[in-house]
Amino acid sequence: MRKSLIAGNWKMHATHLDAIQMVQKLSLRLEFADHDRVDVVVCPPFTALRSTQTVIEADRLMINLGAQNCYWEESGAYTGEVSPAMLKKLSVRFVIVGHSERRQIFSESDSDVNKKVKAVVAADMTPILCVGETAEDYDAGATREKVGFQIQAGLKGLTADQVSKLVIAYEPIWAIGTGKTASADDAGAMATFVRETVIDDFGSVGDDVRVLYGGSVKPGNIAGLMAKRDIDGALVGGASLDPDTFASIVRYWV
Ligand code: 13P
Repeated sequence: MRKSLIAGNWKMHATHLDAIQMVQKLSLRLEFADHDRVDVVVCPPFTALRSTQTVIEADRLMINLGAQNCYWEESGAYTGEVSPAMLKKLSVRFVIVGHSERRQIFSESDSDVNKKVKAVVAADMTPILCVGETAEDYDAGATREKVGFQIQAGLKGLTADQVSKLVIAYEPIWAIGTGKTASADDAGAMATFVRETVIDDFGSVGDDVRVLYGGSVKPGNIAGLMAKRDIDGALVGGASLDPDTFASIVRYWV
């Protein structure tokens, strides 16, 4: 049984003070039973991780802390970078790796993404590996080829046991921040494809991997997505910034 996971990617929004309010409001809108059903994760910017961690620990919130990126080295002369060990020390449990904005705007390659996945696993945190096709790939009918390649490249060199604990987020780039969502049927079919790709390479542990959908997820479309057999949750951007809206997404069955 795979537990559902709904993660909010705040991207470059929220100061450390905003983050305190956001996480407190979110927790007030969630009930104990919701956390039994769903792993709730928030991924604030680096500058807000410490304040968010402090609130989560002081108030014993059941919300999990995630980061949006990291570097693969443990320490050294890498100006501007943050290591997995630094995140781990802040009780970060999940790290988004290879988000399409990192790949497109900051030129992260599949090999960079692979090094990050390995570094996050080595630091005993869970990578949320992001994959997804561009609008051009989609129009050219190359979606599966692109996503299949990203998964194989991203997971290269991992053991089946390491892969079993992973989270993979399928986020079609044309659906991110555009208000366009893949239909639940298309998203569900891609989640199945993601899982089958993992099973082809690593065997039955592919059934343990949690596969998320991301791209304009809202309270109005989450239930249809979650009804798909291979969709285990969502990676939510814009709609995670408002605690009320994000809480309605987490409580998608209500
Ligand atoms: P939106 O939900 O704003 O489309 O963003 C999706 C995303 O990129 C989450 O990582």
